[in-house]
Amino acid sequence: MLNAIGIQNPGIERWVADFAPRIGSLPVPVWGSAVGTSPGEFGRVAAGLDSAGVIAVEVNLSCPNLAGEMFSLAPVSAAEVVEAVRAATLLPVGAKLSPNTVEIAAVAGACLGAGADFLVLTNTVWGAGIDLWERRPTVNGGIGGYSGPPLKPIALRCVIEVHRSFPDAAIVGCGGVATGIDLIEYLLAGASAVAMGTVHFAEPKAGRRIHRELKRLLQKIGAGSVRELIGELKLT
Ligand SMILES: Cc1cc2nc3c(=O)[nH]c(=O)nc-3n(C[C@H](O)[C@H](O)[C@H](O)COP(=O)(O)O)c2cc1C
Repeated sequence: MLNAIGIQNPGIERWVADFAPRIGSLPVPVWGSAVGTSPGEFGRVAAGLDSAGVIAVEVNLSCPNLAGEMFSLAPVSAAEVVEAVRAATLLPVGAKLSPNTVEIAAVAGACLGAGADFLVLTNTVWGAGIDLWERRPTVNGGIGGYSGPPLKPIALRCVIEVHRSFPDAAIVGCGGVATGIDLIEYLLAGASAVAMGTVHFAEPKAGRRIHRELKRLLQKIGAGSVRELIGELKLT
């Protein structure tokens, strides 16, 4: 999927007023995703999410569709944002990083150093589509975020690199998860959880199927638990 959404939202005050009363009645724990245009704004949004009753704050350092430079392209800018969010909440803080950098391990290290409790690897990769009849790009602005199965090898590479540099870091693998096999690949690469996006557009209940597939696969490969697979990729 190629998207250029640009994080439409009503602003944190409106969001808190709308969602805080409903979060407690949902049957699942809810994370908040903080985004902003400056470290201070990220901090303010994180504090708002915290006040609404989320259980963790994911810091979206990697939206491909906002004006200005993406914070997760460089260690210093990523760390400044994580520091601001860290100061704004006592909740677990996760840094969601972009695969569009040549120094993913350095950016991850800077986020961990600034107080991130976990890393989400990754957001979408930059992509473009062209409508040849109209001679126009298929998404606003020409360039968007590309996701789904073709992203998996790229995001897996990021997980492997970061896990190799920071074996104790908690990593959520994200990018193209659509089957139990994908999920186990992320575990072997070093993730201890996965997140799924694009698969839900075609199959809103994909999580249940993937969970069933995971249970069957664990039996098939003789693994007693998910835990024993984390980071067990044989690189040599
Ligand atoms: C339509 C669409 C909207 C998205 N919006 C956000 C967003 O608001 N914040 C964010 O952190 N990631 C956003 N993402 C990225 C996804 O959360 C995810 O990191 C990425 O799509 C890779 O996972 P997937 O291949 O399972 O979709 C979006 C992805 C899609 C396809």
